[in-house]
Amino acid sequence: MKRIKHILFAGALMAAAPAFASSETAMPYKFEPDTGNEASLQRGARNFMNYCSGCHSMRHMRYGRVGQDLGIPEDLMQANLMFTSKKPGDHILSAMPADAEQWFGKQPPDLTVETRMRGPEWVYNYLMTFYLDPSRPAGTNNLMLPGASMPHVLGELQGWQVMETAHAEEGAAAAEAHGGAHAGPGFTLVSKGSLDEKEYEKFVADTVNFMVYTAEPGRNGRISLGIKVMLYLLVLTGLFYLLKREFWKEVH
Ligand code: HEC
Repeated sequence: MKRIKHILFAGALMAAAPAFASSETAMPYKFEPDTGNEASLQRGARNFMNYCSGCHSMRHMRYGRVGQDLGIPEDLMQANLMFTSKKPGDHILSAMPADAEQWFGKQPPDLTVETRMRGPEWVYNYLMTFYLDPSRPAGTNNLMLPGASMPHVLGELQGWQVMETAHAEEGAAAAEAHGGAHAGPGFTLVSKGSLDEKEYEKFVADTVNFMVYTAEPGRNGRISLGIKVMLYLLVLTGLFYLLKREFWKEVH
């Protein structure tokens, strides 16, 4: 009986976990992942390998599988995306030595299934909301993960922003007055990056799309299989209908 209670309790905790994660901090940006867009996934893979794999692994993912699934030829993959290994069969491991914890105060976590743990929208907001904070060792902080020990590695691209606390409230109030269409993040860019706002949003969207793919690499295959099965059933129904008419012709 006690055992069952424990199981029920664990179940309740697991069911509540996503709710906790999302209620902690309001997310200023809306995001819907799109893993059906192969070009976006390819750009996302490039972004991840160039800007993230130095610190973060995806140890449940192999280079070869990424190339195959996303239609990236092996030679291109090897020349442009494989920085930490030369064999397509290898897992995507970061270049980080084991003592990275001493550098950042925290080991950069493996990101293979990150979007399943935090949700794609959370990760999108995380990458959008690094802001300057001189009180932090790296000089930046993050709205979604206060006190984050990850530096703003995309600062060169996004530029550097400060959080306007007063504006954040005004922004939220204005957004509410307008039916919540735009929840003002309350950030002001103080130094431009190499990308403009739209380009940076696209960069982050591509990156998160790629991460959603790695968290569930079979997903697209399942969707297209589902469509094939539905088409097959439809065709079959049509054939049976014709067959039925053929059989009953004589009777009428
Ligand atoms: C210089 C090293 C470094 C680089 C490069 C880096 N990160 Fe991080 N990242 C970290 C560290 C360290 C943490 C742990 C932060 C903490 O918990 O305080 C982290 C945390 C994260 C988290 C939050 C994990 C969680 O759920 O708590 C996400 C998401 C993330 N990184 C994504 C990325 C992405 C995407 C990129 C590439 C655009 C990237 N990181 C590049 C060091 C890095």
